[in-house]
Amino acid sequence: MTPILKISGLTKTYATGFQALKGVDLEIYPGEIFALLGPNGAGKTTLISIVCGLVNPSRGSVTVDGHDIIRDYRQARALIGLVPQELTTDAFETVWNTVSFSRGLFGKKPDPAHIEKVLRSLSLWEKKDNRLITLSGGMKRRVLIAKALSHEPRILFLDEPTAGVDVSLRQDMWALVRDLRDTGVTIILTTHYIEEAEEMADRVGVINRGDIILVQEKHQLMQSLGKKELILMLDRELEVLPSALETFGLRRGANAGELVYTYDSQNNDISALLAAIDQCGLRLKDIQTQQSSLEDIFVELIGSNA
Ligand SMILES: Nc1ncnc2c1ncn2[C@@H]1O[C@H](COP(=O)(O)OP(=O)(O)O)[C@@H](O)[C@H]1O
Ligand SMILES: [Mg+2]
Repeated sequence: MTPILKISGLTKTYATGFQALKGVDLEIYPGEIFALLGPNGAGKTTLISIVCGLVNPSRGSVTVDGHDIIRDYRQARALIGLVPQELTTDAFETVWNTVSFSRGLFGKKPDPAHIEKVLRSLSLWEKKDNRLITLSGGMKRRVLIAKALSHEPRILFLDEPTAGVDVSLRQDMWALVRDLRDTGVTIILTTHYIEEAEEMADRVGVINRGDIILVQEKHQLMQSLGKKELILMLDRELEVLPSALETFGLRRGANAGELVYTYDSQNNDISALLAAIDQCGLRLKDIQTQQSSLEDIFVELIGSNA
């Protein structure tokens, strides 16, 4: 499949001499939800700002549906909607005017029917004549999304869409993003919330200190890097581990009489372990498995890259 967004060798050194991006390569495919996951200061906003033409790259290239963001700036930019990290809105404008005006900025003819559709889909229709200053934080965020969608972009960037947002609005935002994807919009969101990437993304890219250290299908990422734990609850507490069990690398669990066996998809010897336990004359009261979360994986990745 041809990528809708292609980033090659992208470098950014700010005037301070700080290198915020160190040669980023990334391809985004039509119709996917891509989460760019990284801690604060990793370079997420810098990357988005370059793609959207707000910050100049130092080196490298970006094309949007084949249009170079510098040579064919207008065509490239018209394909992109951006919901910025910071809430900035013209306080005294009405919802309707601010969203309609946004569309005009991209040289698109007025289309009240489209603006109405966008406002309705974001539950903003009833508020269309309200001034922004009268809206709650959550509603203002919706207005920012409406603005970003006003010119019918094919790619939507959401920079930390749920930072500082309460749980119920976060759920609404997630539902909204999925609805948008279902209409064919490609979504790229940045987040430092792992649960957001875990919940939303088809693919995840991990960025740390200006380097993309990994890009993978979310499920693959969790399968290949995720570890599983088998928690064995014995019928009694052990003073010492029987020597026949020593080779399995078991550790004690949180509760008395619990042993934990860590394994991954490549390496597991569960049948042998269970047989050995049986041969030691131990009985199992219960058995549980748990899979590491994206959080565990992330901490491990960032840790080894720090
Ligand atoms: N205009 C700027 N001048 C100098 N340094 C900047 C500027 N903008 C961002 N930075 C630095 O670049 C790094 C990446 O910032 P940013 O892209 O905002 O990260 P993120 O969005 O992942 O939190 C940070 O260390 C930040 O301080
Ligand atoms: Mg940021």
